[in-house]
Amino acid sequence: MVRHLTSLYDFTPEELEKIIDLGIDVKKNPEKYATALKDKTLLMIFEKPSLRTRVSFEVGMTQMGGHGIFYSIADSPMGKKESIEDTVKTSSRFVDIIMARLFEHEHIMKMAQHSDVPVINALTNFSHPCQIACDLQIIKEKKGKLKGLKLAYFGDSNNNVTHSLLYGCSMVGMDVAVASPKGIEYEPQKKVVEKAKEYASKHGSKILITNDAVEAAKNADIIYTDSWMSYHIPKEKEAERVQLFKPYQVNSVLMKHAKPDAVFMNCLPAMRGYEQTAEVIDGSQSIVFDQAENRLHIQKAIMLFLLGKMK
Ligand code: CP
Ligand code: NVA
Repeated sequence: MVRHLTSLYDFTPEELEKIIDLGIDVKKNPEKYATALKDKTLLMIFEKPSLRTRVSFEVGMTQMGGHGIFYSIADSPMGKKESIEDTVKTSSRFVDIIMARLFEHEHIMKMAQHSDVPVINALTNFSHPCQIACDLQIIKEKKGKLKGLKLAYFGDSNNNVTHSLLYGCSMVGMDVAVASPKGIEYEPQKKVVEKAKEYASKHGSKILITNDAVEAAKNADIIYTDSWMSYHIPKEKEAERVQLFKPYQVNSVLMKHAKPDAVFMNCLPAMRGYEQTAEVIDGSQSIVFDQAENRLHIQKAIMLFLLGKMK
């Protein structure tokens, strides 16, 4: 059976933990994997911009003996002269694995449904599973464990990163608190919160959705934020959103409500003065560049797992 990564729920919690541990091993011993994907080709379909995802997947393939092809939707007949189904049915005759960064989540689901090779969600408006697998790896490296930790997230929460954090953290037994403005446009989607609560109840961990930033930050081990202006948000919404999200900005006052050894994370790209202040992202508690580096190691682990190369 072909395995895909459309959402972290495509993995069992045990598989997710194994992939995180593989990411840790790949990082420590890259030479062990230098030919693991020899002669394999990854097709990388992009409908939105990217730095980390594009470069880490392409470098990851190169470092494991394979090859990545960058393919912009702007250069593709997909959605204009060709359906998603025909695009992936054709592509999967050429390549061994496909990743796609798309607007609509249904489109990645459709790709997975029609592909003969593994399909990876490299971000949709709804979720960003590769990012959160990477985040769990860096948290485990920095804190020595996952279960029992508390992650607090601030800002735009009807958001791909928030949804995947709720899935991923609940799968590994972490507490999650999400603080955002009131309203369905800004709060995490109910179906995600319900699923996260189901996992949390199995582990005895807690999920808190609140409009109170201080309540969310209390005793957190990890303080996390994401862009107020995700790739799909139109520029004309910026002024309104900045006002609305300002009470959820991560600044040094908010950081003080977390544990003294709390770390600060942001999946990047980040705007200083928006979702966090410069003193926080450039300060001693910030681990954002160690976090970004792990995109490389975890992408390798994800591809090894999906291609059946995990030992
Ligand atoms: N965090 C992340 O996915 O970054 P890019 O948009 O640069 O790929
Ligand atoms: N929520 C952000 C994540 C960027 C990696 C966006 O969709 O732009």
